[in-house]
Amino acid sequence: MDYQTLTIRRDGNVEHVTLNRPEVRNAFNPRLIAELEDWARGVRVGRDVRVAVLAGAGPVFSAGADLAWMAETAAYTHERNLDDATRMAGMFEALDTLPVPLVGRVHGAALGGGSGLVAVCDIVVADEQTIFGFTEVKLGILPAVISPYVLAKIGRSAARELFLTGARFPATRAREIGLVHAVTSADQLQPTVAAYVRELCTAGPEAVRAAKQTIREVSSRLGHEPVTALTAEAIAARRVSAEGQEGIRAFLEKRNPKWVE
Ligand code: COA
Repeated sequence: MDYQTLTIRRDGNVEHVTLNRPEVRNAFNPRLIAELEDWARGVRVGRDVRVAVLAGAGPVFSAGADLAWMAETAAYTHERNLDDATRMAGMFEALDTLPVPLVGRVHGAALGGGSGLVAVCDIVVADEQTIFGFTEVKLGILPAVISPYVLAKIGRSAARELFLTGARFPATRAREIGLVHAVTSADQLQPTVAAYVRELCTAGPEAVRAAKQTIREVSSRLGHEPVTALTAEAIAARRVSAEGQEGIRAFLEKRNPKWVE
């Protein structure tokens, strides 16, 4: 696949994948979703990668789902809408189950699905200025597709607060709730990511893969079921709802949605 929305850089056994739609703050549209899933599946089928690093080009890591695309979904049939949401769920699942460690290098903002991308990273280093948030309800939609991955990281209590308010929160809070592992100054971001990568590369490559797999398998026995059908259905319904479309349009038209006094 010829990537238009990602840049890939190889440094020995380390692959750096960078979201590259800075003009819309690395919001993900169907093209970026397809490319990220394709990249993740490529790692799975045997490129000789030991560690992958996920970052965003431009001023922020990722502003989540592309709201111009979300606005368009109102014109879709339910079947197409669901299929489209299922593809987004497939991208998150492919990243979450990446066989090698995925290190997130996060700066600027990680909002909505951008915080979802943070949740599917194994190790996350964030610039101290980064703003996080599960802002979907502010737009009249909801954090459905990302919810299994975020819940696995931050637990129900933090999710109840942060999913329901949609409030933005700082990197220090992201670390407290387990979404982020290290918070650094801007100039220490890259060296800290590099230190994690070096640490990972001192471990046995097969052992690291097996450890990641074990975490996944043990967790699934603790009662988690595959929920992508449920989550895709939930967002597919919500984003075409009157309220969802009003919230999305309000963002694109740079005004408050009508439920904001
Ligand atoms: N989808 C589509 N376009 C988006 C976007 C998104 N999620 N987030 C930002 N953009 C676009 C803006 O509409 C703007 O386009 P324009 O240049 O045509 O006006 C451009 O990206 C730059 O955005 P701007 O808000 O001016 O950039 P910023 O650097 O000041 O702020 C953010 C960056 C990420 C803090 C801010 O854009 C934001 O809050 N985005 C919404 C994030 C969100 O709630 N996402 C949840 C999605 S489910």
